[in-house]
Amino acid sequence: MLNSHRIRKIKIVDNDELRNEIAKKYSSQNQIVLAEWSLEMAKHIIQFTNFDTSIYPEIKEGFEINELWQKGKARMYEVRQIGFKIHRIAREQKDELSKTIFRVIGHAIASAHMKEHSIVASDYAIKVINLLYEKNLDKVKEERMWQLDKMNELSSLKQMDKNSNLYLSFSARNSGNCEAIAKHFMKKKDTYIAFKDLFYNSCSKCEYECFKDECKYRQDDIYNLLDSFNSYEKIIFLVPMYCGNPSSLYFILSERMQDYFNHNEEKYDAFLKKLFIIGILGSKKESPLFMPILSSWFEQEDVEGHVLGIERHLYNQKLDDTVVTNAALKSILDSFFKKNIECIEDNSNE
Ligand SMILES: Cc1cc2nc3c(=O)[nH]c(=O)nc-3n(C[C@H](O)[C@H](O)[C@H](O)COP(=O)(O)O)c2cc1C
Repeated sequence: MLNSHRIRKIKIVDNDELRNEIAKKYSSQNQIVLAEWSLEMAKHIIQFTNFDTSIYPEIKEGFEINELWQKGKARMYEVRQIGFKIHRIAREQKDELSKTIFRVIGHAIASAHMKEHSIVASDYAIKVINLLYEKNLDKVKEERMWQLDKMNELSSLKQMDKNSNLYLSFSARNSGNCEAIAKHFMKKKDTYIAFKDLFYNSCSKCEYECFKDECKYRQDDIYNLLDSFNSYEKIIFLVPMYCGNPSSLYFILSERMQDYFNHNEEKYDAFLKKLFIIGILGSKKESPLFMPILSSWFEQEDVEGHVLGIERHLYNQKLDDTVVTNAALKSILDSFFKKNIECIEDNSNE
């Protein structure tokens, strides 16, 4: 799947020039834009072919799961399961056209798993056109133009909505303090991602390819996650203390950045400017190494404005207590947020 945006995986009669243009544009898009693009493409093919989707509730379910993933509300497991279901239905189809339409839909939904699926969906859409209009290059050109225009439209819409924030949790559990702090601050258009739910690989079982060429794990979710940072106004890392240190999930992302920023050096300064880190720890006195690790991204004079430690033990917080319900800790969080991230809007009526 690694090079599928450059090399077609299926044999089709195509417009190479437009396909290359789409592949070039694709490389600079984040995965959310590509997921939106994929769903639009699948809906367009369904409409174009008058395909009756009503007997397959899996299609609606798949579109919904992909949309939820775009908002950080679906797990990768769900995306993969529904993708498998759709491809199984594709295999059961008797005629080539229905089978190919299901391939478009299946790859479009799977774009939430790996962004490369989006371009494969676009190739299957062209195969649909080939099946309907044999060797008709004008029809192929029309469909590729539609795809390119749609990608341009969605990517410029995303550019206009740059003032949303990303909350990225490195906790191993749901509904703990990392999630509670994110939900306390989040506005409607913000995104929450639990790193544990992504499909990720740690720096292991490799030959340091990232130093010479590219990381062998480019196909997992991490490169796309890092690529999506560009589309957020602020990025807030929520890092729990495990055994006196930041959790291992935090180090996994930090190490994989080696590959990303080696290839995207020009994006590093902008990333640091928008990065804020909230560490949830016992206390600085008991574990003096925790906060310096989180602070090491920043110049000394910038640390205070970018890094906050929430010391649970100073306020007798037990494992299942929620720091945002403690008035003193809530006040520390709110003033850090207000001073450094942005003014808190009253969204209690939303
Ligand atoms: C493996 C593990 C190790 C932990 N080690 C510490 C520790 O050394 N000191 C501490 O104060 N809390 C420790 N904790 C508790 C977490 O820091 C605490 O639950 C915090 O709220 C984590 O964020 P969460 O609620 O989102 O999971 C540990 C939790 C786990 C799962």
